[in-house]
Amino acid sequence: MLHETIEGMESGRKFIRGEKIHRGGQGIIFKLHEGRTTYAGKFPQTRWNFFAFSPESNLPDVVDPFDIINSRYRFEREAELQQIVHHQGITPVVLFDRTAVNGEPFLVTRLATSDLEMHVLLHGELPAESAYVLSETIAEALAALHNESIIFSDLKPSNVLLFKNRKGVMKGRLTDFGGAGYSDRPNTLVADKNYKAPEFDETVHSERAEFTLDQYGWAKGIVGPSFTGQLGKPNSSRVMIPKGRTIWEDVVAPIAARASAKNPAQRYPSMGELVNDLQEGRKRIIKALKKQQTILP
Ligand SMILES: Nc1ncnc2c1ncn2[C@@H]1O[C@H](COP(=O)(O)OP(=O)(O)O)[C@@H](O)[C@H]1O
Ligand SMILES: [Mg+2]
Repeated sequence: MLHETIEGMESGRKFIRGEKIHRGGQGIIFKLHEGRTTYAGKFPQTRWNFFAFSPESNLPDVVDPFDIINSRYRFEREAELQQIVHHQGITPVVLFDRTAVNGEPFLVTRLATSDLEMHVLLHGELPAESAYVLSETIAEALAALHNESIIFSDLKPSNVLLFKNRKGVMKGRLTDFGGAGYSDRPNTLVADKNYKAPEFDETVHSERAEFTLDQYGWAKGIVGPSFTGQLGKPNSSRVMIPKGRTIWEDVVAPIAARASAKNPAQRYPSMGELVNDLQEGRKRIIKALKKQQTILP
């Protein structure tokens, strides 16, 4: 049952399946070639797909229909949520097709260079200015999602893809809306134990999930790893960015500490207000750096 070509019945687009990029909790990611362009294709990790894509693995050949329906439903919702907000901090969907030739849905995105987790594991922290810009972009993307009542929830470095633009500058974009949901609907949010807010488990099963979950996830899952090169651990302490190293760190430190307060009432009232502080901070930094340059020619 190994399909070398992935043909979308709705889109009419045909891809050659290339190497496997990743197999995680929710999905399997493959390179997909269309002519000279290579994309990334995500397939829900049903047992059926697991078996179809890995005939070498000795998995049970019994396919649980409930498994398929449930993961198909979740996957369609993931694809839908990823397409609502268009923002430079969100990985755009190239196409979502509900039916490939084998009956499975698949989601196609632009191929990234890396993800933030991989990058941090290989190279450690980002240069402070890049870490700031990346954190700011993701915060803006979250504010835009919150405006549409969407909580991203699963903030962590492996859910930030890194794209190199033509000038060679790295851009970070959120991906993986598999844990996301609407704040005002009974929800099934998902978050990683190493990055989730302390109140997560009590909050997610309630009628309304809180946007402040994302603030904590942003500080712990994005700001922390980008500035310190350290990945998260399963404890819910405030995110402490070392001060006195760069002006970028000095400015982001109190913002990250507030966003990751244990008590959600001590965090920012909204992601929008957090973004304001980041934007003001960046302006102040750039001004200060310019001044330094003119004083020390
Ligand atoms: N467009 C892409 N380009 C390159 N790598 C990708 C892309 N999408 C996903 N990946 C890789 O696959 C991993 C898992 O993708 P993700 O959508 O987060 O699935 P899961 O639900 O399994 O976590 C990412 O952390 C990243 O390393
Ligand atoms: Mg993921």
